[in-house]
Amino acid sequence: MEGSIPMAGLGAATLPATAAALRFHRFGGPEVLALEDLPIAPPAAGEALVAVHAASINPSDAKNVAGRMRQTTPPRTPGRDFAGTVVAGPAEWPGAEVWGTGGDLGFTKDGSHAQLLRLPLAALARKPANLSFAQAGAVGVNYVTAAIGLDYAALQPGETVLVLGASGGVGGAACAIARQRGATVIAAQRGRPQPEQPAAQTAHRFIDLNVISPGEAVSAFTGGRGVDVVFDCVGNIPLTSSAMGGLAMRGRVVVIAGTPGEKLGLELIPFYRKEARLIGVDSLKRGTAECATLLEALRPGFESGAFPAPVIAHSFPLDQAREAYSLVNSGTRGRVILTPLAAPTHASTRAPTHASTRAPTHASTRAPTHDPIRIAGAPAMPDAHVTYTDANLTEAVLARIQPEVPARTKEIMTALLKHAHAFVRDVKLTPAEWDAGIKFLSAMGPFVTDKRNEWILLSDVTGVTMLVDAITHASTEGVTETTVLGPFHRENPPVLKNGDNIAPGLVGEMLEVRVVIADAAGKPIQGAQVDVWHADKDGGYDSQIGDGNTHMMRGRFVTGADGVVHFWTVNPSCYPVPHDGPAGQVLAAMGRGPMRPAHVHFWIKAPGYRDLITHIFADGDKYLYEDAVFGVKASLVADFEAKRKAGTSDHLELEYEFRIPKA
Ligand SMILES: [Fe+2]
Repeated sequence: MEGSIPMAGLGAATLPATAAALRFHRFGGPEVLALEDLPIAPPAAGEALVAVHAASINPSDAKNVAGRMRQTTPPRTPGRDFAGTVVAGPAEWPGAEVWGTGGDLGFTKDGSHAQLLRLPLAALARKPANLSFAQAGAVGVNYVTAAIGLDYAALQPGETVLVLGASGGVGGAACAIARQRGATVIAAQRGRPQPEQPAAQTAHRFIDLNVISPGEAVSAFTGGRGVDVVFDCVGNIPLTSSAMGGLAMRGRVVVIAGTPGEKLGLELIPFYRKEARLIGVDSLKRGTAECATLLEALRPGFESGAFPAPVIAHSFPLDQAREAYSLVNSGTRGRVILTPLAAPTHASTRAPTHASTRAPTHASTRAPTHDPIRIAGAPAMPDAHVTYTDANLTEAVLARIQPEVPARTKEIMTALLKHAHAFVRDVKLTPAEWDAGIKFLSAMGPFVTDKRNEWILLSDVTGVTMLVDAITHASTEGVTETTVLGPFHRENPPVLKNGDNIAPGLVGEMLEVRVVIADAAGKPIQGAQVDVWHADKDGGYDSQIGDGNTHMMRGRFVTGADGVVHFWTVNPSCYPVPHDGPAGQVLAAMGRGPMRPAHVHFWIKAPGYRDLITHIFADGDKYLYEDAVFGVKASLVADFEAKRKAGTSDHLELEYEFRIPKA
């Protein structure tokens, strides 16, 4: 590549007659690029000249040279991003260090891959003080595109953003800006984010798209709510569709990329029901002046450190521009910049094949500041070895579930692990809290005996048991409702006959129980096995009083042709669930009491019918509305005093007809 570098002594007072610029006269690969000396005219009114210290090469620059941008007419100087010093213009500007970008630069106007750049004054914006020229010249397109997209999406603090393609330039910028605007940021990319990438430094959550779909991961991260904004930098249809499935109500999808000819199959009903919006962004539609305004708004983000300073992967003088463009065409990761004012190396005479093997500049070999500390002398892990982090551990654990595992097991374990990991992240569980949790679980052991099962109790007081019941028995029409088994059922109770007293010798108000076991149509069921059990007048079960082994207030009946079970007993009291163990600690921790309203338990088994496990609660009990195990259902409440109040009985009576569906 030929061309002189006549920029020594460049200054406002003495503009050189010519300056070098990278030009293409026809479309093609990097070989169509050539350095040319172009004559320099002083700036016209409303213009300035900027000496370009650094200008990144974006993929769109390479596409432009290749002829893939329809608005471009050669000959043209490519280049959108720049950082440099104003060398000519109105008095307040010369000497100012500026940065910029523009959708017109390099396309309809000569661009930044040149020593001198002619700009309208409105395109001048002072670069962040803490960024080098190389850094400031490498962020324009990415940050402007990300800012426009998030502006269009009207991102609000507290919202959640999913960035697809977070390892890319725009994706990383979107992560950084979204975080700065107070959003929760979920970064999705293939593989793990590299420490120097903005996404790695600014996102709250990471999704490895090699392992899990964005829709699935988002659902897990947000508890099923979804994300408010999807920022799609990839434009891969299956990926976009999956992400849109994870959109929250009134969610917005910002798209900045696509593949020619590919179409998005959009299911319209969920789209309109969510009041979702699909937004396209093309940063090429913004000229340098508009971009200057956007960059001025972004400058504090860099100066405060909210936006990570970019890491420059490769830096080339202008006479090695072909090599630099080849590198960008090869899809290299990291920023590639030209330094038009740097001394030429005349290295372009090297064979083009050297381009891909060119040693990176010192910037890319510098150890990332996040690199974990290694013990001196210890062998470094090979690059392919995985280090588990918050970013990849959940996916790694899920990936270990083997393909031959039964589908239901896989479904349950996947969900369990996702929720467990999400819980740890949500509360940012500390090691001390983790330790307390392990001690809590270990303490359950002594409370699991043949007379008491603390695990069932824990499930009961946390509402899990009733949730399983509610899902399992969602349809209860025409049949008796179910409720918890509770911890006091005992196997092999005494078998009794109708008319027996199941609480002989116990002090308490007499209760006569007369229930009918019937099918869903009300036809009595013969041969049904009915286990009954309840607490005494003080709220104690037989296993809790005396020696704990005697069966009292407990029995098993088998129905005759009339389906009737009839016995006498003492009126049960409300009672506390056992709260001297770990489940009691859970209740106390939540400021809750242990009380259950008075009730009698029934477990009915009949051949050909579904088992019915339920209680009948005593109406009027003060704990009906705060049952510690959430077991009360309105249909299961009966007035034991109704007949006595009506004057038709001198004692309490429990009358009920159980209707049981076929199995
Ligand atoms: Fe009970």
